[in-house]
Parts: sequence; C-alpha cells; structure tokens
Amino acid sequence: MAASDETKGGETWENLHSYASKGIVPGVTREQVTDFYNQWAIGGYDKMIHDGKDNALEVFQQALQDLFPADSRDKAVVLDVGAGTGRAGQAMLDVGFKVLDGLEPAREMLKVAERKEVYRHTYTCYLTGQPSHIPADTYDCVTVAGVMAHGGLPCAAFEEMCRIVKPGGYIVNIMRRAFLQEVPDYAHNWGPQRERLEREGRWRVVRMEPYPNHFMGHEGLLMVLQVLQ
Ligand SMILES: C[S@@+](CC[C@H](N)C(=O)[O-])C[C@H]1O[C@@H](n2cnc3c(N)ncnc32)[C@H](O)[C@@H]1O
Repeated sequence: MAASDETKGGETWENLHSYASKGIVPGVTREQVTDFYNQWAIGGYDKMIHDGKDNALEVFQQALQDLFPADSRDKAVVLDVGAGTGRAGQAMLDVGFKVLDGLEPAREMLKVAERKEVYRHTYTCYLTGQPSHIPADTYDCVTVAGVMAHGGLPCAAFEEMCRIVKPGGYIVNIMRRAFLQEVPDYAHNWGPQRERLEREGRWRVVRMEPYPNHFMGHEGLLMVLQVLQ
C-alpha cells in the first residue's frame, strides 16, 4: 500500500508530511514554531504523528537503556527538553524511568503531556543559551527528541544543558541529521562548540551515529554526550 493511502486517526501520511513542512521551515522564528505546535496540539498531534513507521523513539529508548542499567532507571532524574505531548517521556516510562521533568514552550503541547501524567514537574519555557531557573547539577540526564530543527533549540542551549546535568551524567539527542547542515545556527556553531567543550574538558562524545527513518523517511542522528564537569 502506498504511504499516502494509509490512514491513522483520520489523517494520511501525506497530510502529516505537508503539515510538518508548513511549520518547520527555514527562517521561521521560535515564536512561530511555538504557535505552530500549539495549533498542532489542538489539531491532534499525537494521532497524526503516531504512524509506526519511523525509528526515532526506538533508537532513543534503546540509547537510554544502554546508558542506564535496569536497576538504576527508577532513580535517575531526567529532564526532557522539548517535551511536547510527552511521547519521548512515555517511551522512557515504558522502560523503567520514573523521575521525569518536562520543559516545553508550547503550552497546548504540554497540557496533553500533563493529562497523561508523564512528568513530575513541567516548565513552560524555552531552553536557550542563557542560564535557566534550574539549579546547576540537577539532572542525571537531559533528553532532546526532535527539538533541533528550524526555529527550534539553539546550539547554545547545549552549554546550559552542561550546567544543569551532574558531572558524569548524559545528554541524549535525536534529530534529523540534515538539520546539522541546513539550519544556519547549527551549520556555523555546532562543530566549533562541540570541539570547544571537548577541549575544555566539559563533555565527551560517547556516540554520534546516523540511523535510518528518523521521521518521514529522513535519516536521523543519535548523539550521546557525557558531561564531565
Ligand atoms: C517535534 S516536537 C517533539 C516533541 C517530543 N519530544 C516528541 O518526541 O514527540 C518538538 C518540540 O520542541 C519544542 N521546542 C522548540 N524549541 C524549543 C526550545 N528552545 N526549548 C524547548 N523546547 C523547544 C517545540 O515546542 C515542540 O513541542
């Protein structure tokens, strides 16, 4: 059956593709992205996105299981950045994580996550390169699932993640691989920032691996970074 013939929750794969391509475009501001996700949440984000074709959450879930042995997961304190409707959070709950906070600027997305009771605390805000209200060394892990995109998480936010993750803790990021070249902020700043943080002994790269079918047929990239200080 052709992808466009399939229907999930009344939505076709083609609709999903054109919906996402409308909002996640070059030059979009972060406020426009937030409006877009608010509308999408009201319009049924979860139903539309659940197509069972992409690998993103499976890769994400497996990476977290590899980092945290089963008997440590219920104690690990995790912040899910760009929590959305809680899909990545739910994937973590499903493999034994229990203490999850969610940070998300689009209030309507977060309301859906709150109804599902995925997160312990929720924060309605952006993560940026500026220090947030979160104290230093709070989390064992910060997760970022599908948040690096046009108008999405700025590169500088990785500095802030280094501050709020405990030494020895992890940052796990999954994203569309091509965005590292296509989004101007990432194209200019990701490489130098990664190298600087390595040189300064603030993090080490544990995994940097492409994978197929991240979302809508696009290749994905899994990053696992360990915060050292
Ligand atoms: C594609 S959705 C992914 C949601 C969720 N992680 C999932 O896997 O379903 C991207 C989310 O990132 C959020 N986002 C965009 N920029 C952000 C930022 N600077 N800080 C935190 N969240 C951001 C958006 O509002 C949106 O809900």
